[in-house]
Amino acid sequence: MSMKEYYDTRAPEYDEWYLGLGRFDGIERPDWDEDVDALEQTIAALPAAQTLDVACGTGFLTRHLRGSVTALEQSRRMLAIASERLCAATIVHGDALDLPFGDDSFDRVFTGHFYGHLEEPERERFVAEARRVAPELIVVDAAVRPDRQRAERQQRVLNDGTRFEVYKRHFRGDELAQELGGGEVLLENRWFVAVASRRRPVACSLSSADAAKRQGEWQRLLRGAALERIAVPGGMRVKFRADDAIRAELDRLVDAERTCSPFLELTVEASAEGGLVLTVTAPHDAEPVVQALLG
Ligand SMILES: C[S@@+](CC[C@H](N)C(=O)[O-])C[C@H]1O[C@@H](n2cnc3c(N)ncnc32)[C@H](O)[C@@H]1O
Repeated sequence: MSMKEYYDTRAPEYDEWYLGLGRFDGIERPDWDEDVDALEQTIAALPAAQTLDVACGTGFLTRHLRGSVTALEQSRRMLAIASERLCAATIVHGDALDLPFGDDSFDRVFTGHFYGHLEEPERERFVAEARRVAPELIVVDAAVRPDRQRAERQQRVLNDGTRFEVYKRHFRGDELAQELGGGEVLLENRWFVAVASRRRPVACSLSSADAAKRQGEWQRLLRGAALERIAVPGGMRVKFRADDAIRAELDRLVDAERTCSPFLELTVEASAEGGLVLTVTAPHDAEPVVQALLG
């Protein structure tokens, strides 16, 4: 059964995980209560904002968000509990991967213990949706644990003995920030990480004359040395012949691009065949920039 069915079935007993009740009563969880407190305080300390909480569950964390709050969730049973708890919030039944809101409808998307359940391509889809509806994304999730793989399929058992399998990741704060395209680690304790990441501006800082000149430099290098172009998620990979002059020109252009287009991720690596591989990726709404540059 799917992750969605799992959480809908688990809804009435979900808060027992936070509160140490039911199956979680008496299990060894050093620092758990203190770490839950610290997480709640971190959320309560966020500046008041128009916030969309995606996959809000029972609203256990949502209730600490300040400002105007919209809480979205796919499970009707979770939403029933959240509605009772979150009197002032707008409650929406919907899909995190297809958010029913226009571009820039919020200041912030908040999501707790949802991102770490996503595999590709849902993960990329969720981040693109979050970036579309708000300039800031805050992800709360599970911290790295010595007794858990960084990414694993877990067997979960509910109070009535029903079993489900879920995909689950555990994060280091700095790695999560990097994965989100840069961000600030707001909290990292034994059990939780919280990262705030802002959408990067997708404007190139060059004048149009300088941008055209740069484009010409890329095209000269690509015409003279590119062997193959391969589409990759969010961008493109180009294989180059390698000699000292090509390497120097590639490094120069990559450095220049990093300065004027900070929304691009550019890496240059040596390929197994002795050539060079340039990979350029961009946030969803800037993918046409990569096509224009390297296409
Ligand atoms: C681990 S719970 C997290 C609940 C709450 N955010 C928290 O931190 O306590 C994950 C939640 O994601 C919800 N969910 C899963 N897939 C979803 C989707 N595609 N759209 C909206 N919610 C989803 C589940 O129903 C579940 O309530």
